[in-house]
Amino acid sequence: DHGIQDTGFQLQDGLDEAIAAFCLPEVLGFGSVFGPAMFRADYRDGQWLPGEFQRYGPIALEPGAKVLHYAQEVFEGLKAYRVDGREAALFRPEMNWRRLNSSAARLCLPAVPESVYVDGVFGVTALNEAFIPGASGESLYLRPFLFGTESNLGMGVAREVSFMVIASPSQAYHPGSMSLLIERGESRVAGGGIGAAKVGGNYACALQSAARCAELGYDLTLWLDPVKRRDIEELSGMNFFAVVDGRLLTPTLTGSILAGITRDSVIQLARSRGLEVEETSIAVDELLEWIAQGRCSECFACGTAAIIAPIRELGEADGRRCQLPPEGGAITASLRQALLDIQEGRAEDTFGWMAAI
Ligand code: COI
Repeated sequence: DHGIQDTGFQLQDGLDEAIAAFCLPEVLGFGSVFGPAMFRADYRDGQWLPGEFQRYGPIALEPGAKVLHYAQEVFEGLKAYRVDGREAALFRPEMNWRRLNSSAARLCLPAVPESVYVDGVFGVTALNEAFIPGASGESLYLRPFLFGTESNLGMGVAREVSFMVIASPSQAYHPGSMSLLIERGESRVAGGGIGAAKVGGNYACALQSAARCAELGYDLTLWLDPVKRRDIEELSGMNFFAVVDGRLLTPTLTGSILAGITRDSVIQLARSRGLEVEETSIAVDELLEWIAQGRCSECFACGTAAIIAPIRELGEADGRRCQLPPEGGAITASLRQALLDIQEGRAEDTFGWMAAI
């Protein structure tokens, strides 16, 4: 009994032994430890073949695979929680399925049917259940991804594709508060481009700025809109929020910002707690003035991996820095706690966000 329902998938030989032999290391970090079970389903001749649960390990790929040349790849991130011995549960998994398929459509990859996604995500969670770390802020981070495996260097839609799910017992992405570099030179996305899709290329594009952040003593990049270079967009792997005059502001989804599931959850949670929330354009220079005037009291970033992370300063490449509370403010802390209380099963799931595996 693997705790997974039989929907016609295969179990690779040696998987049970690999699960039995796995030991969870004491220090996890984010995304560097991988659970012993993974899932793979292949798409060929216009059809999804039955998936297989496999031992976590290297995969074979033709060197001509389209993903390696033309970046036909999309991914998701979601978490399973099991704190204080409670039942394991996933946070809003159907939202990730919908977004996976909207990213896939943007890159002309085939949609992953719900049954294949559910097999992969719920099955990998069940097989790795013993390795869901149990401290608050820790979880089993699931990474579903879809990529073109067809070996062909012509430009065109991959006719062979794989969908995989791997699992990483993890801590929060960024411990503590963050210092952001306002990126006034490079852009993460183009108008009409792929900024709203969760595709690897958007993250590769952010690496050069991330390296400059490290050189200049910042943690992460704050990206501006690619057209006017004026409005705040996001932080590559997180969405942005600011508390201004007691109201919560976050950039409108303009088509070049990722529609974060944590972003959506924070908006709902804040409204349910009586906070006014506005999705609007936020000009970065105006925000800097509001911070200087004391009208903006807190900024934070949020994401599946990041949870809710306070922002302690916003700065420029020339070293000018604008300070916020070093450990974040009270609204940030209370929203973070409220979100974790639902995810980790301490608070009633009034939104119906948790899915038992
Ligand atoms: C997530 O929050 O799940 C992401 O995909 C962001 C990534 C930088 C870890």
